[in-house]
Amino acid sequence: MQNRLAETANQLAAGGRGLLAMDESNATCNKRFAQAGIPQTIEKRRAWRDLLITTPGLGACISGAILYDETIGEAGCQGTSFVNLAAQAGIMPGIKVDSGAKPMAGHPGEKITEGLDGLRERLQDYVKMGAVFAKWRAVIVLGAGLPTRGCIEANAHALARYAALCQEAGLVPVVEPEVLMDGAHTLEQCRAVTVEVLHTVFAELYRQRVFLEGMVLKANMVLPGLACVQQEAVDVVAEVTVQSLQQAVPAAVPAIAFLSGGQSGELASARLNQMNVLAKTLSHPLPWKLAFSFARAIQMPALTVWHGSEPCKDAAQRALLHRARCNLAALQGDYAASMERVHA
Ligand code: 13P
Repeated sequence: MQNRLAETANQLAAGGRGLLAMDESNATCNKRFAQAGIPQTIEKRRAWRDLLITTPGLGACISGAILYDETIGEAGCQGTSFVNLAAQAGIMPGIKVDSGAKPMAGHPGEKITEGLDGLRERLQDYVKMGAVFAKWRAVIVLGAGLPTRGCIEANAHALARYAALCQEAGLVPVVEPEVLMDGAHTLEQCRAVTVEVLHTVFAELYRQRVFLEGMVLKANMVLPGLACVQQEAVDVVAEVTVQSLQQAVPAAVPAIAFLSGGQSGELASARLNQMNVLAKTLSHPLPWKLAFSFARAIQMPALTVWHGSEPCKDAAQRALLHRARCNLAALQGDYAASMERVHA
């Protein structure tokens, strides 16, 4: 079992391709549709998810797609199941298994991710449907007096319980403790909190006997808050992020796949690229691969082009493939801003 988990984790995030997060809950998907003027119906959600997974050429850039519960058991527009559509594209299907971040009792302004009750049984169902990996996202809010230890520890514990259950079921857990970009905090504040959160998460993963070689860490980049006046340059973000990860992520973990967290597609590609450029210059190679598991930074340009209109489907797929290719190049440190001009 451990060999298989390690092999899948490596193929997923250490094999030179990245992950496409398309696991928005219906509420989140509807919110993005509303902003783009798209009707918030089950048919439109199906059409959008079908558009994403059937993008020609996507499998050259994407190793795994994280699906949502509404998607994994369903068929796309032509009647083929989403799991088979992913397989046809050479993409491994995964599934978001948490049931969302809810307000945490006794901790105003903070959230705890729910979904452990009945998880063992649900995981078995997902395995039968064809999933090979799973995702659970915890969110950590920065603010006055936040985050609290109580919130960090409760979320780390839930992530570790989830990861252990996944491995028991033969699924690779993608462990996502996300330090949010919302707020006016500085890069240094994000760095300190990110390192503390990662230390706590890995202590819990160790305690719950999670096999680190058979998991993927989904991490935030270390960034100043969106409302912070001081926005550091790409090379500073890359250096501080890599240093923070070196301090807190064990060498046994095969790969770290970044979330985008509200960065633009171009910035997310540029920062990921710079980290992989930096990695080539270090006297000791990094012990893990640095990959991507973006949702917004890869989907949003395509969603804007599509805006729910069938005639715009091909153009939207081209926009998606463009971002996927930029991120593929960033994995090698080969992304350049000029790639954006060629596409435009
Ligand atoms: P973003 O890349 O939009 O942050 O989403 C990644 C994700 O999977 C959040 O759980």
